[in-house]
Amino acid sequence: MNVPRYLPRYFALIPAAGVGARLGAAVPKQYMPLAGQAMLTHVLTTFAAASMISHVFVVVSVDDGYIADLMAAAPQLQGRVTVLFHGGASRRDSVLNGLRAIREQVGEEDWMLVHDAARPGLTQGLIEHLITTLGDDLVGGLLALPVVDTLKRGDQNARVAQTVERSALWAAQTPQMFRYSLLTRALTLAEAVTDEAGAVELLGLQPRLVEGSPRNFKVTLPHDVALAEMFLKETHLKENL
Ligand code: CTP
Ligand code: MG
Repeated sequence: MNVPRYLPRYFALIPAAGVGARLGAAVPKQYMPLAGQAMLTHVLTTFAAASMISHVFVVVSVDDGYIADLMAAAPQLQGRVTVLFHGGASRRDSVLNGLRAIREQVGEEDWMLVHDAARPGLTQGLIEHLITTLGDDLVGGLLALPVVDTLKRGDQNARVAQTVERSALWAAQTPQMFRYSLLTRALTLAEAVTDEAGAVELLGLQPRLVEGSPRNFKVTLPHDVALAEMFLKETHLKENL
């Protein structure tokens, strides 16, 4: 029987050092209020309340002027969340800087759950679903949704060049969950990836796809805001029943 040397722990790492250019709000989008709280507060509160998560790290930009007030206003995060002022030029840089900054606090085989600050619809149930489905998977994996729309590849004149076979396609979400050492190695080698799985794939490995939820979509464009608020208000309603 394969007896593990020790039980791996689970840590959350939230990249929150972007500017939210496509959303174009007055503040970086992670600080935009949604259903009464900053988008980032929703995310941090969900992870802080998840009993399987040992600790939460959030990576903000070096000159972030918002996180101190956010933390001061959120007693539920005290002792559960550490702020790292190590944001980089890209999401990949922010995540890698964060991983390096916590080297002394996590084990090589501990799991890192990397989650976008811009996905406030994540629930504790989805976190548990990801962790329990992956179990002691050798590679790791991510939440993702099977694509339902018929997909077209367009040419430069916005004419259909091709209909793309959809049946095997998934849209990647987060959290993306990999062991600390594997993830750090993968991101160090991969400079131009847009998610953690992409970096791990470049090592020749195949991350596992775990079905997520539409409510865990990424708030990117102005019209996403109303939908995100709808999901968040629905959750509050259920919690207060
Ligand atoms: N992110 C980051 N560091 C960067 C860029 C992005 O930590 N240099 C984070 C964002 O804060 C967000 C997540 O990565 O939580 C996903 O990125 P995205 O949705 O693209 O956010 P922004 O880059 O802020 O938005 P935009 O691309 O519209 O400017
Ligand atoms: Mg971006």
